[in-house]
Amino acid sequence: MNVKIFEKAEQLNQYAATFITQQIKIKPNLKMGMATGRTPIGLYEELVRQHIAGALSFSQVSMYNLDEYIGLPRQHDQSFYSFMKRHLINHIDVKRHNLHIPNGSVANMNEEADRYDKLLLQAEQLDLQILGIGTNGHIGFNEPDQKLIGGTHVVELTNETKWANSKDFEKAEDVPSYAITMGLRDIMRSKKILFIALGKEKAEIIQEAFEGNISTWCPGSLLQLHPDIMVLLDKEAASLLTYNKSPC
Ligand code: PGA
Repeated sequence: MNVKIFEKAEQLNQYAATFITQQIKIKPNLKMGMATGRTPIGLYEELVRQHIAGALSFSQVSMYNLDEYIGLPRQHDQSFYSFMKRHLINHIDVKRHNLHIPNGSVANMNEEADRYDKLLLQAEQLDLQILGIGTNGHIGFNEPDQKLIGGTHVVELTNETKWANSKDFEKAEDVPSYAITMGLRDIMRSKKILFIALGKEKAEIIQEAFEGNISTWCPGSLLQLHPDIMVLLDKEAASLLTYNKSPC
């Protein structure tokens, strides 16, 4: 596991964006797994900057999002579909037919999970999964539980996740209770994982995920088993690590 610690989030975002740019240069039709949430916003801004500067084209790249709330229309401000449009898609040259985001507003969510799973199977293997972590250890919306599900599935969000995400909604009770998420199998099958965490509220879970026991009660701890993961942390998120400490 390659852990890099940065003084500031801006340095981390530049490093991550440069890494992604290199991957797209090596393989212009890179298949990327995409994350949403507050963590990747700065990275996406950096990718947009590099695209506008002419250093980066997404014209052959395909993107597969990790998850989506259930019950929000796609046009809702807080849907992950709107998030992707706002922070990335509207500003780059990715082709619409290469964008894949689970749809959380269809009548039959189990059918939608099957459809998304088939899509991921057709893609065979993502090349690069961008990934964050929740304060409760979830990755995607795979919440801590006695067992974890391999494929795309519907999940009931924990109170901790709903509370954490309520900052993005007008009222806490507006946060959807259910979501659809890629499962652990597809996350772990990605050739490379680019993992990012920022801020002191992530320090405890980072220590638990990367230095604690591997447990389904901390889904992020399964990442210890991935053969090619790069972990990028700012110094607050890394502050409780005891042995994985190699500042950039
Ligand atoms: P955040 O969410 O980036 O908003 O902290 C991370 C996650 O829930 O995976």
